[in-house]
Amino acid sequence: MTSIVSFRDVSKSYPGRGAAKGKPVHALRDVTFDIEKGSITGVIGYSGAGKSTLVRLINALEKPTGGALTVSGRELTGMGEKQLRGLRGGIGMIFQQFNLFNSRSVAKNVEYPLIVAGWPKAKRAERVAELLEFVGIAEKARQYPSQLSGGQKQRVGIARALATNPEILLADEATSALDPETTTEVLALLKRVNLEFGTTIVVITHEMHVVRSICDHVAVMELGSLLEHGPVYDVFAYPRNPATQKFISSTIADKPSADTVARLQQLHPGRLVSITISEAPGVGAGSNQRDISALLASRPAVHDSVVYGSVTEIAQRPFGSLTYVLEGPDEDVDAVIEGLSKITTVQQWPAPAAAGTDDEGGRR
Ligand SMILES: Nc1ncnc2c1ncn2[C@@H]1O[C@H](COP(=O)(O)OP(=O)(O)OP(=O)(O)O)[C@@H](O)[C@H]1O
Ligand SMILES: [Mg+2]
Repeated sequence: MTSIVSFRDVSKSYPGRGAAKGKPVHALRDVTFDIEKGSITGVIGYSGAGKSTLVRLINALEKPTGGALTVSGRELTGMGEKQLRGLRGGIGMIFQQFNLFNSRSVAKNVEYPLIVAGWPKAKRAERVAELLEFVGIAEKARQYPSQLSGGQKQRVGIARALATNPEILLADEATSALDPETTTEVLALLKRVNLEFGTTIVVITHEMHVVRSICDHVAVMELGSLLEHGPVYDVFAYPRNPATQKFISSTIADKPSADTVARLQQLHPGRLVSITISEAPGVGAGSNQRDISALLASRPAVHDSVVYGSVTEIAQRPFGSLTYVLEGPDEDVDAVIEGLSKITTVQQWPAPAAAGTDDEGGRR
């Protein structure tokens, strides 16, 4: 793996303001991880986790207050303003609110970074045409941002960010202001940027589907700390950190909530279990569903039905959770659950408290 951004115990704190004067805000705490060259890395976490701070450091808009940060092979700490400006030229950025110049045409917006970088006029015109063609809005060159839809504005933002061929593209909530269909289109465009130009992309988002659809790596943050980082599939399918597990299950709606479990138990007699559908560990491609089906078929005394769940993909690999009701003689049901446990992660839901009990507190 070639690393393009490397955080080593990076911290960033801001002096406290107002009532919190004198008490620093720790926006980042000892963050250590590498961003792989050519990857699309998602950064997720609740509001205030430090995601934007992380991006502003990569972008050299702000300096770490501790640790070492290397971007494109250059150590940022100790760099002068002039060197930092040079570094920023190799990094493109797109934003939630697009940040376009409203008084300039689409073409002029895209041309701007080329003027800053000192490109000659003829070359600029050629590059702008090429970029607008690439993002699919060549016919809008003479229009103004106010005449464009959100998706078109973000295409302009992407064209502008790519103008000087940056090695890294940072996207801070770049699709959060777009409707789902437009989001899908913009994500597909980012994926094309990554594939065709080899641009390393860092995507900050609070939307899990953004990570699922385009990222190959993901970093999970909480209160300034990096909880977990790795290939998307590993982190989502087998989260190690309990806080990551909570974050992921709160955003992937395929495990039943406690209320749903209680309702399902009322509706269906039998034993309720939730199992994880994923790539069979150690087996490689393909999901564990075939083994699960074979196991269920081998025990005809147990009747199984799926009552809740979904199976989708993360990074083009199967992932989901299915909740089954298993009915039949106790020993057969036990054998099925034991067999399932050998194939995948099984969560057994406790049987509901017996009717008529006055022990309200015992029912969870
Ligand atoms: N310039 C600043 N001065 C003081 N505190 C700041 C500054 N910038 C960020 N912070 C604080 O640092 C913490 C992390 O902020 P940051 O903007 O990085 O979070 P975030 O994960 O991007 O959140 P969101 O999802 O809401 O955008 C927050 O507690 C925030 O209030
Ligand atoms: Mg932010």
